[in-house]
This record gives sequence, structure tokens and C-alpha cells, in this order.
Amino acid sequence: MHMDTKVFPDFDSLSRAAMDETMRIVHQAVQQRGRFSIALSGGETPNGMYRLWAQEPYRQQTPWKQVHLFWGDERYVPHDDPLSNFWLARENFISRVPIPPQNVHPMPTVSAPPDESAKTYESELRNFFGIDAPEIDLQLQGLGQEGHTASLFPGSPALEEKQRWVLAVEVPATPPQRITLTPVVLNRGRNTIFLVSGASKREIIAALRNASDSQASQYTAARIQPPGGVLWMLDKAAAG
Ligand code: 6PG
Repeated sequence: MHMDTKVFPDFDSLSRAAMDETMRIVHQAVQQRGRFSIALSGGETPNGMYRLWAQEPYRQQTPWKQVHLFWGDERYVPHDDPLSNFWLARENFISRVPIPPQNVHPMPTVSAPPDESAKTYESELRNFFGIDAPEIDLQLQGLGQEGHTASLFPGSPALEEKQRWVLAVEVPATPPQRITLTPVVLNRGRNTIFLVSGASKREIIAALRNASDSQASQYTAARIQPPGGVLWMLDKAAAG
């Protein structure tokens, strides 16, 4: 399948380039619509970028009052559990920047059953974005070795979802219980970046590149095709 790809020498330069691209989109969104929304991801890969966000020049250049943080997926664990995607972002940057607390929109987890948490988050999205499915300014996506993104794993019934914006899902990973945005939302993003690092991703990147469009659809990541386009940012180790 066609992939709009940029390759960087290593993890640090990848993280810096992702942060630069994020800042460009922040300023464009704030200028055009008065606010910027991002769906953050979990996993290891975004940590470098998150840490940079709390450092200069990025911290100073960010109009924090206009920035709204959402999550693309969350592990169904307490927010102070190191497995939590919210915890990861909070440790790496949110606790170190002057963002108004009401601009931080984590997915609720263990205070309610998973399906209820998913519905509560969908209501929060509706309050913020309105009745039409959101066009998130920047969707930051990770890629799993088997081609998953967010908590949408290959073969998941959530991939066929046509109504709900947020679903509780069980996945073949740790922890198995997750909350995830569905393709109803992820296929509307204004900007989408897949951030992929490390030699463990080389095989799946090659598989995606070499697959025909119909073959690629077995991989969740290939099914995220929003009108704003998708940019694949890779380090050399992942790109091969
Ligand atoms: C999660 C994710 C997930 C992640 C990929 C890549 O919560 O697990 O959001 O989709 O982005 O599994 O993870 P790594 O960056 O750790 O490879």
C-alpha cells in the first residue's frame, strides 16, 4: 500500500521531528479554529516526544490554554498504574507544563465497568466536539508488531463499528481490557501520524509496504485512512 513516509536516523531525531510537526499543527489549528485537539497514544514510542514537549523551545511555544489532550486508547487500569497511557503522558510531560487541568481529558477507567467508561468518554467527546464525530486535529498513532493501532487489534469486531465513537474491548495484549476510539472517529482525523521506532517493527513496516491495498486491510493500521491523510514517521531501525 502507499505510505507517505519520513525516515529519521534514530529515536531522538524521530521524536524531535514528531514534536516539530506537532507544533506546526498546534499553531495551524489554533489560528484556524482557536483550539487544538490531540489523541495521544500509549506504548513506548511516544515517550521521547512527550519528554520534549515539557522542554524548551516546545513548552514555551505551546499555547497551553488552547490545547486539549485526549487519548486514542487506554488500558483499563487505575490512572496511577504505570501501565496507564494517561500515567505515561502525565509523568513525561503533562505534570511539567502549564496546561489548564480542564483541558486534560483522560479516558475514565476503573471507577465504572469498561462499557460504562467507554460511554462516559463518548459523552465527553460529544460535549467537546458536538454531535458529528470529531475531526481531531492530530491523531498520534502507534503500530504494534502485528499491525494493531490504538487498541484495535486485527480481527476485532470493533473494526466494523459504525456508530459508537468509543468502545470497551478485550485484546490479546497486557492488560487485555482496554478502551479505544473506533474507526468512526479515527477515520476523520485532520492529521494522523504513525510514529514507529525500532528493529522490532521492521517486519510489519515491510509487510505493510509490500501489501496490496486489499492485503493490507488485514492490518488494523492500514484501515485508518482519514481524509486528512496519514504520515508515517519512522526511524531507520524500523524502516529497514
Ligand atoms: C497501547 C497503544 C498501542 C501502542 C502500540 C505500539 O496502549 O498499547 O496505544 O496501540 O501504540 O502497541 O506500542 P510501542 O510504542 O510500545 O511499540
